[in-house]
Amino acid sequence: MRVAHSCALRGAPLACRPGQPLRAGRRSVQVFAKKVADGPKVAIVGVTGAVGQEFLRVLHERDFPYSDLVMLASARSAGRTYSFEGQEYTVQALTEDSFAGVDLALFSAGGGISKKFAPIASAAGCTVVDNSSAFRMTEGVPLVIPEVNPQAMEGMKYGKGGIVANPNCSTIIALMAVTPLHRAAKVKRMVVSTYQAASGAGQAAMEELEQQTREALDGKPITTNIFPFQYAFNLFSHNSPMTDNGYNEEEMKLVKETRKIWGQDDVSITGTCIRVPVMRAHAESINLEFENDISEEEALAALAAFPGVSIINDRAANRFPTPLDASNKDDVYVGRVRRDISRPDSKGLDIFVCGDQIKKGAALNAVQVAELLL
Ligand SMILES: NC(=O)c1ccc[n+]([C@@H]2O[C@H](COP(=O)([O-])OP(=O)(O)OC[C@H]3O[C@@H](n4cnc5c(N)ncnc54)[C@H](OP(=O)(O)O)[C@@H]3O)[C@@H](O)[C@H]2O)c1
Repeated sequence: MRVAHSCALRGAPLACRPGQPLRAGRRSVQVFAKKVADGPKVAIVGVTGAVGQEFLRVLHERDFPYSDLVMLASARSAGRTYSFEGQEYTVQALTEDSFAGVDLALFSAGGGISKKFAPIASAAGCTVVDNSSAFRMTEGVPLVIPEVNPQAMEGMKYGKGGIVANPNCSTIIALMAVTPLHRAAKVKRMVVSTYQAASGAGQAAMEELEQQTREALDGKPITTNIFPFQYAFNLFSHNSPMTDNGYNEEEMKLVKETRKIWGQDDVSITGTCIRVPVMRAHAESINLEFENDISEEEALAALAAFPGVSIINDRAANRFPTPLDASNKDDVYVGRVRRDISRPDSKGLDIFVCGDQIKKGAALNAVQVAELLL
C-alpha cells in the first residue's frame, strides 16, 4: 500500500510540509483526507515530540486510513491544538482511560510511558506500535522492520490488542542496508561505527544544536541543557547510559536487536556510536565479514533490488550518501561499496549508509508496521 508521493509534491498545506514542525493552532485546507468510516481509530502518544510530529506527516503522506485520531501527550501540552487533514484536534493528557474505543496506538513518549501505558492500551483491545526500547527484547513481542521480517507479526491486527516494537533507529538504518547483503552471502561479523544526528535525541536536542551553533558563531557562552558537552562544532560518544562491558546502550541495541530481527544468535556484532552535529539523519560506516564470497557487483545488485534502499555510489565524482541526501526521505542511502582489502579473500565488504532516523528510523517504520495491521 506504499504511496509514492509526498506532502510537498501534492501541494499540501504549510502545516504538513515535510521537515517542518507542524504548527500548533494553524488551520490547514482539506486535502486528500483519508478519514474513512471503517478505518481504525488511531491514537498518537507523544504527538508533540519529534517522532510524534513525524507520525502525522507520514500518516498523511501514505494516505493511512483512519476513522478518527486521538492526540495524546503530557498534561503540559493538554489543550494545544493541531490541524491535520483539514480538521482541528486538541491534545489530551495521557491517562489510563485514553484508549477506550481506540484500535491502534503509535507510541513515542519514552520507555517509561510505554512500559506503563502500552499494556493498558493492549488490554483495552488497542494494538500498539511502540517506538521506545521498552518491549524490544521482550519474548513474544515482535521487533519488526517491514522490509526485513514482516512474518514476525503475522496474524496481528488492529483492534485486537498486542504490542509490536519498532527497532532502534541505528538498527533499522543498518539492517535496511545489510539485510540484502546478508541474504546474498550470510553475514558472520559486522562492525558498525555511527555518526548520529541531534534529532535522534528529540525535539529539544535539535533546538539545542541550533542555539549552540548561533551562540558559538556569535562568540557567546554555550548553553548545555540536553547534553553535558558542547554539541555544535564538536562530537562525542553517544549519550545513552554505559553498560558493564564498556559499551553504551545504543551500541548494545545494535547487537541484540539485529540478532532478534534476523532470528540468528550466532552473528558477531560490535559497534561504536557517536553523536555528530548533524540535524536530522544518521550515517553509519559498516564493515562486513561474510560466510560466502560476494563481489562489489553482486552487493550492488542485491542492494538495488531491496525495497527502501537507494544507491549513491559514484566513485569518479567522489559522490556518496550524505545525511542531507537522506533527510526527510523514506529511503536508506548506501554507497562506498567496496571489497575489504584487509582480507585476502572476497568475503569482506565496507559500506557507508545514511538514513533519516525520524522517518525510516522511527515514524515511517512504525506506520509501515501499522499498515501491516490493517
Ligand atoms: N527521535 C528519534 O529519532 C527516535 C527514533 C527512534 C525512537 N525514538 C523514541 O521515541 C520516543 C520519543 O522520542 P522523540 O525524539 O520524539 O522525543 P521528544 O521530541 O522529546 O518528544 C517526547 C514526547 O513524549 C511526550 N511525553 C513526555 N512525557 C510524557 C508523559 N508523562 N505523558 C505523555 N506524554 C509524555 C512529550 O509530550 P510533551 O510535549 O507534553 O512533554 C512529547 O510528545 C523515545 O522513546 C525515543 O527513544 C526516537
